Amino acid sequence: MALSKLSEWRGRLRIGSALVLLSFVTTHLVAHCFLLVSFETADAVRRALMYPWRTTSGTVLLATAFVVHFCNALWSLYRRRSLRLSRWEGTQLALGLSIPFLLMAHVVGTPIAEATLDVTPGYNALLVVQWMLAPWLGLLQITAVLIVWTHAMIGMDHWLGTKPSYSRWRPLGFAFALLLPALALAGYVSGGNEVLREARTPDFVRTSLAQAHITAQTLATSARRSQIGWAIFVALLLLPVVGRSVRSLSHRRRKPAMLTHAGGRSLPVYPGATVLETLRAHRIPHASVCGGRARCTTCRVMVTEGLDRLPPPSSLEAKALTRIGATAQTRLACQIRPTADLAVIPLLAADAGAADGAARGGLAGSERPITVVFVDLRGSTSLGEAKLPYDVLFILNQFFHEMTEALARTRGYYSQFTGDGLMALYGLHTADAGAGVIEAFRGAREMLARLDRLNQNLRADLRQPLQIGIGIHHSEAIVGTMGPPRSRIVTAIGDTVNTCARLEGLTRDLDCVVIASREAVEAAELDLSHLPLREAPVRGRSAPVQFYAFATAADLPEI
Ligand code: FES
Repeated sequence: MALSKLSEWRGRLRIGSALVLLSFVTTHLVAHCFLLVSFETADAVRRALMYPWRTTSGTVLLATAFVVHFCNALWSLYRRRSLRLSRWEGTQLALGLSIPFLLMAHVVGTPIAEATLDVTPGYNALLVVQWMLAPWLGLLQITAVLIVWTHAMIGMDHWLGTKPSYSRWRPLGFAFALLLPALALAGYVSGGNEVLREARTPDFVRTSLAQAHITAQTLATSARRSQIGWAIFVALLLLPVVGRSVRSLSHRRRKPAMLTHAGGRSLPVYPGATVLETLRAHRIPHASVCGGRARCTTCRVMVTEGLDRLPPPSSLEAKALTRIGATAQTRLACQIRPTADLAVIPLLAADAGAADGAARGGLAGSERPITVVFVDLRGSTSLGEAKLPYDVLFILNQFFHEMTEALARTRGYYSQFTGDGLMALYGLHTADAGAGVIEAFRGAREMLARLDRLNQNLRADLRQPLQIGIGIHHSEAIVGTMGPPRSRIVTAIGDTVNTCARLEGLTRDLDCVVIASREAVEAAELDLSHLPLREAPVRGRSAPVQFYAFATAADLPEI
């Protein structure tokens, strides 16, 4: 338990230190932007913005944040049993670890030189050094800005990505993330050019350096200190590498626990490795939006054997599991470290996104309102007659790719393949019935738009454009993880599904693109009084189903 508390604190410290460092970098870059105005303005803004960081408490806070963040990266490098990381995690780690190396000369040459060598560098003198005396320092500086900022923005995006309202603010954040470094670098280049112009004036370089008390000796001292700093940095980087080697030697002789995956493979678990690390080490894709920090829950698995031999969830894991209303059999693959044999089934697809992580229940089966969507590709049989199997597969794979992309963008959950179509669920993540239906309508619109584009791209290969019919229905159904033991899926069963399939079938008879049931339209409180309410019998249902038909995508409600 003490360990779990520690890892909870480690998570908090990582985020806290990241936020402190991000505030510092942001103020620094804002000051650089003012180089577009003049050296004097930029220096005044820099002095004002940097003032809090120059006080004793500000400096201590900043230095502590840096040490905490860097030590955390070293610790996570040591703690991971497998270095097979997802692309964003690998990029994030590599960028983060390169930052001290890139910033060493800058930190040694400015704040440290200021505190110990009586140097007082303003923008003027700094740019003389970086643009004239040692241009490689200028290049290092530009690279550092790009890498620090990219690292920070990837981290923020993944941290905020699991927060429900983030999608609304993301475009704004994206604009800020692009604009600030662009303006700061523009300021830096403009300042550098001005220095180059001024340098034609006799004595400009000498006066600028003298005013900042920069001499050949202070420069040489800073260069020497940078070299020592780089050597210490390399030694620190080697610590987790050595630690990992020692650990793997000591573990070599132990018989590993075995992890049985739903795919049927049995995998040895390195001592101390999480289920997620074990799967990755064996190249089995598994969802993990937050990178193993118990925030996204996309790595959730159902433990079918060995649950009693696992320690109970840590407070961090328990909190995440409570949030999604998970059953006792559900655990987070990134948090459990098996010491005895274990069998698990992933509960979300390997490419699940942050929105899927918000899905509640749907694990052991519960009766709940749900929006079901059926999509059917018309005329797929004639496609098979006219094309070679290879071509048919190519076209169908393109089609399914576009449809699942449309689902992913509108918070739909791909549930199952139906031969020449698919079934999807909307509203898994919310108790608000209307929200699921509205997303389903957006999904239908997105699918039709993507189908149009696909038809454009494939027009040389198709005798006639691909067409789809979409059925949307909302009602109670049993939702849960079902299916044969080794290929379970999150899906829904019941009358709701049959009715939705019937609605989708009716799109062909009525020659329309979408049909939505009256229940779905009412759940979303849509006003469709301009459309006729129709009805049709459904096998196994005493009452007919009432519905609205939409002839084209343009007829769909604007929501
Ligand atoms: S990877 Fe995000 S909770 Fe496990």
